Amino acid sequence: MKQSILVTGGAGYIGSHTTLALLEAGHDVIVLDNLANSSQESLRRVERICGKTATFIEGDIRDRELLDSIFARHSIQAVLHFAGLKAVGESVQQPLAYYENNVSGSIVLFQAMAAANVFNLVFSSSATVYGEPKEMPISESCPTGTPTNPYGRSKLMVEEILRDLAISESRWSIALLRYFNPVGAHVSGLIGEDPNGIPNNLVPYISQVAVGKLQQLSVYGNDYPTIDGTGVRDYIHVIDLANGHLKALNVIIESTGINTWNLGTGQGYSVLQMISAFEQAANVEVPYAVVARRSGDIAECWADPKKAIQELGWKTQHNLEDMMRDTWRWQQKNPNGFGK
Ligand code: NAD
Ligand code: UD1
Repeated sequence: MKQSILVTGGAGYIGSHTTLALLEAGHDVIVLDNLANSSQESLRRVERICGKTATFIEGDIRDRELLDSIFARHSIQAVLHFAGLKAVGESVQQPLAYYENNVSGSIVLFQAMAAANVFNLVFSSSATVYGEPKEMPISESCPTGTPTNPYGRSKLMVEEILRDLAISESRWSIALLRYFNPVGAHVSGLIGEDPNGIPNNLVPYISQVAVGKLQQLSVYGNDYPTIDGTGVRDYIHVIDLANGHLKALNVIIESTGINTWNLGTGQGYSVLQMISAFEQAANVEVPYAVVARRSGDIAECWADPKKAIQELGWKTQHNLEDMMRDTWRWQQKNPNGFGK
């Protein structure tokens, strides 16, 4: 049997870009997604871009029988685990749904992997596990903090479960990838981020204002101790992020144990800098108003990406202009996303 990579949540934003990168690199890809926050159209677009097809299985990571049948039918070498719920505000309203999906679902997946003797895993974690960072830039040796919401806590819990798992069984080879702020889209404008309803995150919100779907951006506070008072984040192009997964995959397949890598650029930008970069790249005005801080937000956060650069041989290749130009192209070509 040909070796395959199982991608949970592969129809979603980061999963679809990573599926594309895996197919382009010659891997056989099986996507498992329940389409809770995505559409199969993303995978049809992936096929249009690269001329290769991922096997799609509509289903849930909490379905142990389904997982067992997937592992029995395919010779899976590694799992890239993107599946999960990710809306911070919703996680406050529905903590059990978040813990069930993100934590219980992950446990079912890891049990099925162990039963099938598949021990290579890349897990989508988040910079949110650092909580209120004690130092800047944030390196992997910074202690994890207290995430301010159930979504963030679910990521930290799964990281800790995986640490215990790696201690219990030496065949596990696990990458915990802590993403900073993924933005942008494939250069074709065929795949990109397609949030449900009103976006929570900055860049999708800006682009929906720019395209005329939303009236104006609310800037959450301009009294932070930052360059211009607005929040500073490390935005990373989704294509660079996808490539980081391929690099991590190469490393874990050749080793064992558990490792954490930050995937960020090492450069922070403020909300006002983001607005002005978008306006330049898109040549449109983005009206905004400064409002109160959003609860749970931190002032600033950017990565020290040295460890990933050295150990994964990975480097970001897209700058802020690329991120904004590609976001805008995707938004203009698909004002209603995938129409899901
Ligand atoms: P996304 O919502 O676009 O993708 C997640 C995919 O998982 C969706 O296609 C959804 O349908 C699927 N899914 C959800 N629950 C499932 C289940 N129980 N079984 C099967 N499929 C399920 O989100 P994304 O932005 O691509 O994020 C991917 C991963 O990266 C998530 O785990 C997210 O928490 C993590 N992450 C995202 C960001 C970000 O800003 N986008 C930042 C840090 C970490
Ligand atoms: C948020 C989540 C984080 C999650 C990440 C990726 C919170 C508190 N944190 O991170 O857990 O991992 O998304 O999904 O929700 N901003 C505005 N106006 C807006 C939207 C955002 O001013 O309409 C500002 C924010 O205050 C922040 C910056 O833009 O300073 C980035 O916000 P966002 O894109 O939501 O990302 P994070 O807050 O970093």
